[in-house]
Amino acid sequence: MENRPMNLETIPVAILGATGAVGQKLIRLIAEQERFRIAELAASERNTGKTYAEACTWREIYPLPQNIARMKLCSAQKVCSPYVLSAVPASIAQDLEPSLASRGLWVVSNASSHRMRDDIPLLIPEVNPEHLELLDKQTTSGRIITNPNCATVFIALALKPLSQLGVIEHVSVVTMQAISGAGYPGVPSCDILGNIIPNIAGEEEKIECELKKILGSKNEAADFSVTAHTNRVPVQHGHMSVIHVHFAAEISDKELRDKLLETQNIFPGVYQLYDEAFSPQARQNLSDTDKRVHIGRIKTNRKIIGMTVLGHNLVRGAAGAALLNLEAVLKSRELCVS
Ligand SMILES: NC(=O)c1ccc[n+]([C@@H]2O[C@H](COP(=O)([O-])OP(=O)(O)OC[C@H]3O[C@@H](n4cnc5c(N)ncnc54)[C@H](OP(=O)(O)O)[C@@H]3O)[C@@H](O)[C@H]2O)c1
Repeated sequence: MENRPMNLETIPVAILGATGAVGQKLIRLIAEQERFRIAELAASERNTGKTYAEACTWREIYPLPQNIARMKLCSAQKVCSPYVLSAVPASIAQDLEPSLASRGLWVVSNASSHRMRDDIPLLIPEVNPEHLELLDKQTTSGRIITNPNCATVFIALALKPLSQLGVIEHVSVVTMQAISGAGYPGVPSCDILGNIIPNIAGEEEKIECELKKILGSKNEAADFSVTAHTNRVPVQHGHMSVIHVHFAAEISDKELRDKLLETQNIFPGVYQLYDEAFSPQARQNLSDTDKRVHIGRIKTNRKIIGMTVLGHNLVRGAAGAALLNLEAVLKSRELCVS
């Protein structure tokens, strides 16, 4: 199957980590839109020079586009497209991404390495678009923009409208995270089949810090506390979190529901609300390109709001988040020029 014909108006992008779970989802999502064109693909050095089809075991349901299958993988260090979508492990992103930014490239990263730097936006366009102004603090000719941890993004999207209802004092999070969140091959099947692993190394700290950065102002973290417990569950795709949000003052059920409905109307195709007692569910509600945050089991108890939040970790939790951030960056650069 051929990818769509090349349109010279499209913006050339490089994908780093192109053979991994997030890299494959980036290729999948780019195939269905017309703004971006994949100009370069890179993976680890051991695969440099191979064709994409030789180096990659394609795991998307969507057929691998033949023009992508034939592309030769280049070295991640040597990409030269103006915009780079990075999906490499954090240990590699640590030095690689600043080195690309110092060569004038704009790097939109899925990795955790630079998310907490005070000159780097940890961006969710619907939540903290003003954090893009942090790009002005970066001194390289290129820039780095990051998207959040794959569970955090959905919790932050859910918290944003709640933060407009009153002063949040504490957020308690319990996650149930899919195995594809660990990349491929990820968690050994002997560990996860018929089991729940009650911790994901490093994940709880990321959720606790990232939520406060995202929900804060561009210069100061939000003033609420966060406690997170993470669990790996035997689900293929989709991170679910149960959150309880503690407010300084009472919030009525009507205030909450009106605010969530208003938010759903402001961001069509982003917020999906459920009243049914057994929704949302990963298998029933998430397609392989699902970009929404699914919110159900909504409860109020005086100063506490509880809800269940679900989203596709590889789509809005990673590849789709990076593409939305790239669009936000391009829009802000266009506004600067005009
Ligand atoms: N999975 C998720 O749900 C998710 C969500 C949000 C963020 N993330 C983050 O996104 C990044 C990628 O995650 P993933 O799940 O896609 O991981 P993955 O499936 O393990 O893929 C890793 C990719 O990085 C490449 N790579 C490995 N070592 C490299 C090196 N030294 N230089 C250049 N490329 C190298 C691999 O290429 P080879 O095939 O050649 O080894 C592969 O393409 C990670 O930082 C992860 O934390 C993942």
